[in-house]
Amino acid sequence: MEQTFIMIKPDGVQRNLVGEIIGRFEKKGFTLKGLKLVSVDSAFAERHYADLSAKPFFNALVEYIVSGPVVAMVWEGKNVVATGRKIIGATNPAESAPGTIRGDYAIDIGRNVIHGSDAVESARKEIALWFPEGIAEWRSSAHHWIY
Ligand code: TYD
Repeated sequence: MEQTFIMIKPDGVQRNLVGEIIGRFEKKGFTLKGLKLVSVDSAFAERHYADLSAKPFFNALVEYIVSGPVVAMVWEGKNVVATGRKIIGATNPAESAPGTIRGDYAIDIGRNVIHGSDAVESARKEIALWFPEGIAEWRSSAHHWIY
């Protein structure tokens, strides 16, 4: 089953949006597979955003991610990577549709509340980076249509 890495960024934690964000993924029907509150250092944030190291906003982005604890999560379900990105909304909150997390809760691109993997392959890499201890396997004993 497909998995994605979702991170509630420091502004989302500090604005008490953790429950709201988790609720959106839960109510959609996805399954929470991993969860932790963690503070990362610059070297770790630079690894997470390594693909963006040449971008002019890279240093500010790293400073933002290390500015407070983040909630790191693994969510599982059919098409969870692409659907998770839809739930999150466009990168720039000025362009994120109302009803999406960024559309509802963010204004600035540099404080856009949440991260979600952009592809199955990057999800795999990000889950390995953030959860080197691995993800405990569990299955719902409820109905088969609950993924
Ligand atoms: P990116 O991976 O392009 O977006 P997304 O998070 O939607 O996958 O960029 C990573 C983060 O970098 C983005 O969430 C916010 C920040 N960022 C800026 O601060 N300024 C920018 O111009 C862009 C494109 C991104």
